[in-house]
Amino acid sequence: MAEPILTLEAVRKVFGKFVAVDDVTLSIGRGEFLTFLGPSGSGKTTTLMMVAGFQSVSGGAMTLDGKPLDPLPAYKRDIGMVFQHYALFPHMTVAGNVAFPLEMRKLDKAQIAKKVRDVLALVGLPDHGERYPKQLSGGQQQRVALARAMVFEPRLLLMDEPLGALDKKLREHMQIEIMRLHRDMGITVLYVTHDQEEALVMSDRIAVFNEGRIEQIGAPSDLYDNPATRFVADFIGESNFIEGRVTGHNNGFAELEGAQTLRGRAEGNLSIGSAAVMAVRPERLHVNRANDGADANRVEGTVTDIVYLGQSRKFIVRVNDQTEMTALVQANVVGLESVTVGSSVSLSWRAEDSKVLGNT
Ligand SMILES: Nc1ncnc2c1ncn2[C@@H]1O[C@H](COP(=O)(O)OP(=O)(O)OP(=O)(O)O)[C@@H](O)[C@H]1O
Ligand SMILES: [Mg+2]
Repeated sequence: MAEPILTLEAVRKVFGKFVAVDDVTLSIGRGEFLTFLGPSGSGKTTTLMMVAGFQSVSGGAMTLDGKPLDPLPAYKRDIGMVFQHYALFPHMTVAGNVAFPLEMRKLDKAQIAKKVRDVLALVGLPDHGERYPKQLSGGQQQRVALARAMVFEPRLLLMDEPLGALDKKLREHMQIEIMRLHRDMGITVLYVTHDQEEALVMSDRIAVFNEGRIEQIGAPSDLYDNPATRFVADFIGESNFIEGRVTGHNNGFAELEGAQTLRGRAEGNLSIGSAAVMAVRPERLHVNRANDGADANRVEGTVTDIVYLGQSRKFIVRVNDQTEMTALVQANVVGLESVTVGSSVSLSWRAEDSKVLGNT
């Protein structure tokens, strides 16, 4: 990682008796795009607000560029901020909104005019400076908010669900725009979303929040291929879970005994005899005619639903008379034409393609 620009060390936030943020420790590298991902109420916004200086800290320490953040009031932190709702000043023009942070910093008029022009061009609104916010679409307003947050070249840009109010198409378009701006400006971004797809697409690293704590932090592919907990495996992408007990553990693999004996990758922290769960992604499952399937792991079941998705199909299979498993099969896979609802099939997968996790 690049040298850290922002560090959080055991940061806490307590409201009365309720712990909203619990010992959060992380550092963000200069130029990095780090995303906080987690369910509603998991402490993402509260953490961001403490970084911004809009919320006091109950414990722990934060530094920006190596200096303690605590003594600095929000307006001296040199941090840009974009919220879910545009929060533009309605009585000011677009250019007026974008100029505001520069006027606060007392730049001279010519300099301000140039910076405003440049940044509006950058966000694709070069001719919109004289309009008022209400004369813009939601996506355009959000770009103005982005321009206003970037124009003073903050050391850090915080964005809290900035695309939450936009429809899916516009959201996807803006994701690309924000990634491009991040890349071109070399700015450090701390981004918040509860949309896992958005987090996977945009981030260098993702911190997964759960009940005020970081469950895991890593690159999108790390989290997807190597979830450390059941929560992460469930929250990022889709996973099948099969419960059992650990009966063996060696060389990075564990054996799990439930209705069958299964084998999957495992970290060193599983003890023999403990309750555990195997997580396997739908796209890692092979659907075979009954009794076929050469992989290390195999379960038998009955197809209960087939969902057509265009480029792929989902087979929902009831195994062991209770668990439902989902297999995602690409459209170009042949040999399953005769499989219909009610067919007996087997699902098989490689040990390397599954992970045994503590069942907590
Ligand atoms: N001012 C406050 N007083 C009391 N409790 C608060 C306050 N602000 C937040 N909380 C609580 O702290 C917890 C974390 O809230 P936070 O806004 O950080 O969640 P979040 O992860 O941003 O959720 P969302 O995805 O819904 O925005 C929640 O349970 C919330 O109710
Ligand atoms: Mg929030």
